[in-house]
Parts: sequence; C-alpha cells; structure tokens
Amino acid sequence: MQALSLLALISVVAAAPVHNRNIGDVDHKPHHRHQDKRNVGDNNAAYTVVEYIGGDGKVYSTATIDDSTASTAESTQSATGAPAVALVNNDVASSASASASASATATSATATSASATATATSSDDSSSSDDDSSSSSSSSGISGDLSSFSNPTEKFQDGTVKCSSFPSGQGVISLSWVGYNDWASIMNMDGETSSSCEPGYYCSYACQAGMSKTQWPSEQPNDGRSVGGLYCGKDGYLYRSNTDSDYLCEWGVESAFVKSQVDKDISLCRTDYPGSENMVLPTLLQANDDSNGVPLSVVNEDSYYKWQGKPTSSQYYVNNAGVSVEDGCIWGTSSGSVGNWAPLVIGSGSSNGVTYLSLIPNPNNNDAPNYSVKIVGRDGSSTVGDCKYENGKYNGDGTDGCTFSVSSGIADIVFY
Ligand SMILES: *[C@@H]1O[C@H](CO)[C@@H](O)[C@H](O)[C@H]1NC(C)=O
Repeated sequence: MQALSLLALISVVAAAPVHNRNIGDVDHKPHHRHQDKRNVGDNNAAYTVVEYIGGDGKVYSTATIDDSTASTAESTQSATGAPAVALVNNDVASSASASASASATATSATATSASATATATSSDDSSSSDDDSSSSSSSSGISGDLSSFSNPTEKFQDGTVKCSSFPSGQGVISLSWVGYNDWASIMNMDGETSSSCEPGYYCSYACQAGMSKTQWPSEQPNDGRSVGGLYCGKDGYLYRSNTDSDYLCEWGVESAFVKSQVDKDISLCRTDYPGSENMVLPTLLQANDDSNGVPLSVVNEDSYYKWQGKPTSSQYYVNNAGVSVEDGCIWGTSSGSVGNWAPLVIGSGSSNGVTYLSLIPNPNNNDAPNYSVKIVGRDGSSTVGDCKYENGKYNGDGTDGCTFSVSSGIADIVFY
C-alpha cells in the first residue's frame, strides 16, 4: 500500500502537463489541477490531493483534503482505487501558493519540460467581435432535449453535418455566449484555436447537465494538452473522433444531483475536458429547485477519458448565486468572481463503483460564496463522509475542502 501511494505521487509529479493552449487573453494562463485520491501517511487515512499546476508547469499549490471522516468504510476503496486525476484551468495570476498545505516533494520535477510551451498562439481574442450575437436565446436551450437519464436515440452520421453548422440535439446544447459559434472550444492538434469550426480542427461541444461528450481522438498531443470534440474534415463536414460511440453525449453515473434552497439561480460551469478546459459547460440550478434537482455529471473514471493513462473526473466552477450562465460560465478575470474566479469548485467522478464528490477551494478566490453547501445522502443510499461549506468554512473550520463518497444510491449537493 505504501509503495502504491508513492507510485501514485510520483506519477502525478512526472505527469505535470506542458501547457500551450491559448485561451482568452494573456492574463488567462491555463492552469491545471490534478486531483489524486490516495493514501498518504498511515494506512487508514485517505486523502484527496489536489495540485494546481500553472502554465509554466510548476506546482503553484497543493491542497490536501483529509478524507479521514470517510475512511472507516471506504478506506480500502480509496486506497486501492485508481487515482483520479482532474484537470481544470485556473488563473496563475492569483499566486495561489499562499493557500497551500504544500507537499514540497511535488514541486521540483514538474518544472522541467515547461519551457517548451512558452509561445502562446493567440488566435483567441478578448475582443470577440465575431461573437454570436444571438445570445438571448441561450439559457432556454441549455437544459437540452433529453429527459434525465434517457439515452439519445439518433446516431450521429459522419460526413453529413457541415462544420459551419452546429449539431444541437440528442443531448448536445449550443453555447451562444461563448463566442465560438455555439461550440465550447475549437482547437487543432498543434494547440491553435479558432473561433469557427474549420477543417483540421477539433470542435468541442457541450452536453446538457449530467451528460458528457463522447468525442475525442485516441491519439492525443504528447505534451500534456488534451484535445476533444468532433473533427472537421478537409471536406468541411463533421466526423466523430471516437467512432466507438454512436452518440455525441452520454450520461454519467446516476449518483449525484444539485439542489437549491437559495432564492437566486446558481450557475455551475464545468470545464470542457478533454479540450481547452474552458469553464463554459453550463449546469443551471434554478432558484429553490429543491425537489428534483439537476443531475451532476459523474463520469465513470474507469472508462472515461484518460489523461496520460490516468482517470479524470468532472470539475465545476460554481458562481455566486444570482450570476447567470452567460455572465458566469466564461473565463473570468482577477477583478471579478466568475468563471475560473468563482468561489467554489466541485469535483465528481466514479471509480470502482464508488462516487466521489468534493467541495474544493478555488485558490483564485478565497472569498466566501453567498450561499452554503452540504452533501447529503438520500434515503437508502450508502455514503461515507461529512462535507459542507458553510459561512466560507469547510466542515466547521477548515480551508482545505472535503470529499464525500457514495457507494450506492444518490447524494444531493444542496445549496442553502
Ligand atoms: C450573490 O452575489 C452575486 C454577485 O456577486 C449577486 O449578483 C447576488 O445578488 C448575490 N446573491 C445573493 C443571494 O445575495
């Protein structure tokens, strides 16, 4: 077990991503977070380790979330389960290092290959004069056309949809406010981006809340970037990049919902991954939606996208209550508190049949959000852990976030 833990640590360190995606303007340096569930120290203690890695490849901070409340029943699961590597963008400019309970071992090995990435190709823009101007219709469309956990039925037909149109429906939703002609991001293998879906580019899309895209090429860039989406062929038509899936969106595990007792809407913004990691994939939790809730995407980490062989989870930036999807599910800036500067991050994923839900501090923004959050198992569920964020503190007095596990049934992440 000790050897396994160490191996996990080493592999995370060695796998520090080299990063040359350019998204937004220069202030928005991509920044990876790795979330790695593993044993640290004594045999029964389970921890979630989250590393924030900057565009320069350095570890900016390491948050160690003590899952010991979840250790009794689930310690073997946590200990033997595959590490969950979660990748999220953050803004390096926050100098996140301050908040870290850093494991110094992680830092050194990561910086090595970073210089290779120094040039940023800036085809993205902050001016966005080519933005889709029809943003008014956006919110209504983001709930999607499928009811919860019913599967798509119409297969995507390669070579029939022009790259200039957007294949909405069957779970695919358009993002009119993002400025990429409804796409979530558009990127080629060289890390170049475009605001329209052109031949040679991967055009990445959003799925409705609870679903995840199925499309990414099995061959990925060597330098740690990731690429996802439909491929725009030389003929100007869209093709699946993963022909193992007939549909563009798939449901995750049905084990987690978000619910609200708050009087204003809450916009949760998932990162587009594999892909640009734009935090633009919306999950809109309407004010006081406390009965049905909205499904959170819990990716099956055993089968979903692997980053350099490691499983990955879903990551959401959660805005303050009252911030719309159009205002919140974007790249933020240091002067604001939206998007990658939102006050809370939620991670979710399932490994070996156990769902892990985490409330994670965003090192970009230490301000308390204007709501509290708790994770609650539904009747009949089998869960372990205490995890809440109340008055800006995790579980009473903590600053390190917390994890909750669900081995059967459903848990709700309740905003109040
Ligand atoms: C929370 O903050 C947002 C923006 O920061 C504001 O628009 C909203 O009105 C606030 N909501 C509540 C419930 O206080």
